[in-house]
Amino acid sequence: MTVVTGLRAPEPTPLRVATPRRFVLCSPEYFDVAYAINPWMNPGEPVDRARALAQWTVLRETYEEFGHRVQVVPGEPGLPDMVFAANSGLSVGGRTLSARFAHPERGPEGPAFHRWFAANGHSRLAVAGEHNEGEGDFAVAGQRILAGMGFRCHLGAHAEVQEFFALPVVSLELVDPRFYHLDTALMVLDDTTIAYYPPAFSAAARDVLETLYPDAIVASEADALVLGLNGVSDGRHVFLTPHAPGLAAQLGDRGFVPIPVDLSELLKGGGGIKCCTLELH
Ligand code: ARG
Repeated sequence: MTVVTGLRAPEPTPLRVATPRRFVLCSPEYFDVAYAINPWMNPGEPVDRARALAQWTVLRETYEEFGHRVQVVPGEPGLPDMVFAANSGLSVGGRTLSARFAHPERGPEGPAFHRWFAANGHSRLAVAGEHNEGEGDFAVAGQRILAGMGFRCHLGAHAEVQEFFALPVVSLELVDPRFYHLDTALMVLDDTTIAYYPPAFSAAARDVLETLYPDAIVASEADALVLGLNGVSDGRHVFLTPHAPGLAAQLGDRGFVPIPVDLSELLKGGGGIKCCTLELH
């Protein structure tokens, strides 16, 4: 007999399952803040490169401890932002589109990463024709790609990605210069779950996100402003900054396991964990 109490049983916390990932990182031996192309960057503030390298090494080792494969692209002199490997391109289903950077300061990173892709088995490889900073603005979410626009790339880049990968691209306009790449304001947790910070998006983009992801985790301003959303999920573990405790608690409530990794030195360049990580999907 069913006892009707009138109270709804609490939603069971879903069991989250990690899957091994393939990540590409770029070593920060030439990391610096030599120019300002986003509001986080202040070239007057000194950078401790040894500290950046130590923090980045912890990220690399943490991924490996959790069973993920990491490949490392060597950094190049004169390319102080190259550590932000997410911007090198987008790689899905054996096809790779290498980046075309919006700012001339980062321009040579495109060919540098392209050479690395070509030398490392990415045979179905092309260079983006439009400005396109790879996974900075393109987030693979199951069978669709979420795409930011407004600062570093525009609709033409979204159309090009849709054609190249034959996956539907959902265009989302970014409106706050502090959140200049999609990956600063939105994190994919698994094929159907995201976390994001709504004020970084236009009203229309917010409507789209609410429609597609009614159960999304909504991050607080405080957590967004430490780039808490610039994390990486393997479906269960979420590698994120230790400075976003609210978001870590929200993730825990939803069955994810937050794994703190501190990249505070790299934050001086306006990037965090996700910015430093390209996933080969
Ligand atoms: N200084 C870099 C830039 O402004 C940071 C890039 C961070 N990368 C990212 N995926 N959000 O281009």
